[in-house]
Amino acid sequence: MTNSMKKKLKLKVSAINEGTVIDHIPAKNLFKVISILGLDKIENQITFGTNLESGKLGKKAIIKVSDKFFKDDEINKIALIAPHAKLNIIKDYEVVEKRVVEIPDTINGIVKCFNPKCITNSETIPTRFEVIEKEPISLKCYYCEKITNDEQIRMV
Ligand code: CTP
Ligand code: ZN
Repeated sequence: MTNSMKKKLKLKVSAINEGTVIDHIPAKNLFKVISILGLDKIENQITFGTNLESGKLGKKAIIKVSDKFFKDDEINKIALIAPHAKLNIIKDYEVVEKRVVEIPDTINGIVKCFNPKCITNSETIPTRFEVIEKEPISLKCYYCEKITNDEQIRMV
């Protein structure tokens, strides 16, 4: 089989002209990624595929957003739920840049505070954490100052 045939077989979701392709999203977190990035609230053309085969991840998802180029602090919000996500910046049908996501220094409203007595668990206040350590991840709550670590992380 020729390389172009292999590429076509791989291309389960049509190529885009301009925009961003977010690849290698764990399939189970596709809709969380959509919501965190606010993709359910914009007018751009969006296509996605899910439960696609992926060596590393088991099942992966991919999202293609036309005419949208994310800022680092926007895209880094998905680092906790799609740590291996790869961004492909597309201009005139070509991949012109590849980027990875990085865990930001603060995390707002994505993770629950592990402390059951924390105010964020009894009132509708968005959570806020300072990232104390990135690998393994350790978060310090802005409100109760308790630590939520890697194994304790639950998404809101
Ligand atoms: N892509 C797209 N539209 C284009 C060009 C690329 O939707 N005009 C998508 C491809 O389908 C692929 C991703 O962007 O999912 C990255 O493209 P490319 O670098 O060509 O693919 P790979 O070499 O498979 O990338 P990697 O191994 O880095 O994931
Ligand atoms: Zn707290």
